[in-house]
Amino acid sequence: MSERNKVLAICGSTRSRSTNLNFIEAVASLSIEDFDIAIFSGLAALPHFNPDLDTDTPPAEVAAFRKLLAEVEGVLICTPEYALGAPGTLKNALDWLVSSCELYHKPVALITASTSGAKAHESLLGTLKMIDAEVVEKTQLLISFAKTKVNHQSEITDALTLQAIEELITEFALLMKQKSLV
Ligand SMILES: Cc1cc2nc3c(=O)[nH]c(=O)nc-3n(C[C@H](O)[C@H](O)[C@H](O)COP(=O)(O)O)c2cc1C
Repeated sequence: MSERNKVLAICGSTRSRSTNLNFIEAVASLSIEDFDIAIFSGLAALPHFNPDLDTDTPPAEVAAFRKLLAEVEGVLICTPEYALGAPGTLKNALDWLVSSCELYHKPVALITASTSGAKAHESLLGTLKMIDAEVVEKTQLLISFAKTKVNHQSEITDALTLQAIEELITEFALLMKQKSLV
């Protein structure tokens, strides 16, 4: 029997009561039959990206982050928008992956859950495309007015959002399965 696919989830918000963390937990419970999700907890500890530090021996936090990514079949990014862009901590993390290529052809699901979120979503899709991550139409989702659609028990309270997330999970699982057969 083949092993279950593993997913690393990255929350673009470092806030303790983050709506995006609630969405990640909701995806984890809805996808229990499909894949295993571990949540990355080191986003805020990554040093500021500096090409001078991006050598064969990068900072330990960066090496650990890259190793976690290399060990999974897929990545889930769930993030708010800040000031019409991606949160700096998240963009910083992605900048560390440009040269090391852990997301190259790797299935990525992107959920932007924010008050509006359209600009950050578009910007992140551009960044992910630039580093050749495998994001398809059905593994990306913009959830506006996000705080009204999930509760603090990580239950999705909006029927259309729940349906959209279930569809995203199905497509993401399929994408990882197809990749593992290549
Ligand atoms: C500094 C700051 C800037 C923000 N800018 C935006 C924005 O440009 N667009 C938007 O949709 N929401 C913006 N928001 C609202 C956040 O999207 C909203 O608070 C979201 O729920 C935060 O995600 P979280 O609950 O996962 O922490 C901003 C919030 C903060 C604190």
